[in-house]
Amino acid sequence: MTRNIVISGGGTGIGLAAARAFAADADRVLLLGRRADVLEKAGVPGALTYAADLSEPDDVRGVARFVADELGTVDVLVNCAGGAGYLEPPAGSDDPLDRVAHDWTVNFRQNTLTAALLTEALKDRLAEPGGRVLFLSSIAAYRGSGTGAYAAAKAGLHPYAHDLARELGPRGITVNVVAPGYVEDTEFFGATMDEDRRARLVADTSTGRAGIPGDVAETLHWLASPAAGHVTSQIVQVNGGAERGR
Ligand SMILES: NC(=O)c1ccc[n+]([C@@H]2O[C@H](COP(=O)([O-])OP(=O)(O)OC[C@H]3O[C@@H](n4cnc5c(N)ncnc54)[C@H](OP(=O)(O)O)[C@@H]3O)[C@@H](O)[C@H]2O)c1
Repeated sequence: MTRNIVISGGGTGIGLAAARAFAADADRVLLLGRRADVLEKAGVPGALTYAADLSEPDDVRGVARFVADELGTVDVLVNCAGGAGYLEPPAGSDDPLDRVAHDWTVNFRQNTLTAALLTEALKDRLAEPGGRVLFLSSIAAYRGSGTGAYAAAKAGLHPYAHDLARELGPRGITVNVVAPGYVEDTEFFGATMDEDRRARLVADTSTGRAGIPGDVAETLHWLASPAAGHVTSQIVQVNGGAERGR
């Protein structure tokens, strides 16, 4: 049976790998992100695209109308949109408190608000029974992220997922979170990654390698499958053991 899959942040990195995994099942995939050209060039077979800033309610209302017209029902919603602010415009001020306010606001909007707005806008369209909601958290929610802002924004998704799992469970819908460790071949780090930092991140793993988008995509794909029908309200870490370190 062909399913309708909505993937935010679907034009790059983990979201794109997930989109390819679902498209390989001949599912109908809708890719969301802010850059229309990136979505169009993603090359996911048969995919629909819609450009929107998912931290803006007006844009999300536009997504909801598009989904109503083009898909009707949503079988799987994958909330991949996010980032640690590396690629976002910098604070317009050098004042330390202005910079703190900027860091926390950008991270909350990009990681928490995008997921909450899109999920709330689409939750009445989820297939019942069988619908799936998935969120992308991070190892940062367990280990911190430097300033704390990105880690806190991701950790905020965990109680939201638990509440949503209780709410949607009676409709036969599961809600889960996947928390990756360091994943390369994404746009996430922009120009901020260097060999020393990469080596430290890999050294934290038990597997001795960086994650790749496919590691996370396959976990999302399984959680979205009928086989995972009794798995809900879980945070699944995909990090080669890096949460525990060496
Ligand atoms: N890479 C890692 O090591 C890692 C580790 C742990 C968790 N994660 C999480 O995994 C998820 C996927 O990240 P990734 O690694 O695949 O990085 P990525 O390639 O940078 O993907 C992030 C995607 O989110 C989209 N996005 C960001 N803000 C958005 C907004 N306001 N509205 C709509 N779309 C937005 C971006 O597209 P536009 O810029 O075009 O909007 C981009 O396609 C993120 O939630 C990230 O926090 C990544």
